[in-house]
Amino acid sequence: MSVGIPIRRLWPEPSTQQLDDAALTTLYGRADEPRLRVNFVASLDGAVTLDGYSAGLSGQPDKRVFGVLRMVCDALVVAAGTLRHEGYRAVRLDERRRAWRREHGLTEYPTLVVVSGSLDLDPAQAAFADAPTRPIVLTHADAEPPPGLTDVADLLRCGTGRVDLAAGLTELHRRGLTQLLCEGGPHLLGALTAADLVDELCLTVAPLLAGPGPGRITAGDAAPPRPLPLRHVLAAEDGVLLLRHARP
Ligand SMILES: NC(=O)c1ccc[n+]([C@@H]2O[C@H](COP(=O)([O-])OP(=O)(O)OC[C@H]3O[C@@H](n4cnc5c(N)ncnc54)[C@H](OP(=O)(O)O)[C@@H]3O)[C@@H](O)[C@H]2O)c1
Repeated sequence: MSVGIPIRRLWPEPSTQQLDDAALTTLYGRADEPRLRVNFVASLDGAVTLDGYSAGLSGQPDKRVFGVLRMVCDALVVAAGTLRHEGYRAVRLDERRRAWRREHGLTEYPTLVVVSGSLDLDPAQAAFADAPTRPIVLTHADAEPPPGLTDVADLLRCGTGRVDLAAGLTELHRRGLTQLLCEGGPHLLGALTAADLVDELCLTVAPLLAGPGPGRITAGDAAPPRPLPLRHVLAAEDGVLLLRHARP
């Protein structure tokens, strides 16, 4: 089977061997303990979007790793802003990836978890209406759902007046969703960083200068810096770097 643009390991232990999907799955495997992994793509000069969207930064190697990360997680956590802006569709995996999940005792699809304070969400959006697994909306005690939202998603209320992210993650773990993959966006990453909840960042660096304008992968109120040591560097033949940083 073709894997498209070759990806090789640069660090640690550089290798000339192309990484197949099995090797990528090992490199991005599940952890024994609960973990919040965050995945982003950025330009060389730190932009999180091109023309307002992440798609312009993401090529075939990024999409390949993106697919592996979705395959190995229990739940896919996304902020309402990114869900609305990027027009998230239902989380679907191809048969090969669903088979991998079945073999590893997982549900066929990860659960979508949408983080929203306002509950300004459209139940007809395909991410909800088409979902193969009922999504969860992580919100707070005072948020009022729009008509129809509770027909297509379960509300998980943590915090009063604002979402208590730490309590939300603990509740997801209690429900057996321990391997969490967060696909952003920047305000959610900023809040997770401030709460010191980020265990891992997978960052794709696209080899281009986006120029001034777009924001960074993080946004919101200032937070203390959080060290996140480098675990591996992969390089795709088109010059894309795939970095994995994780807590010790
Ligand atoms: N390059 C990449 O990899 C990548 C990845 C993701 C997104 N993006 C880009 O990022 C942009 C969107 O970013 P954004 O700044 O709008 O940020 P965002 O974090 O996607 O969305 C912000 C919204 O999400 C909800 N939210 C986030 N953090 C929350 C918290 N701690 N508590 C409660 N609700 C929270 C709120 O929704 P409510 O308003 O419903 O309360 C908030 O208004 C888009 O342009 C998208 O394309 C890029």
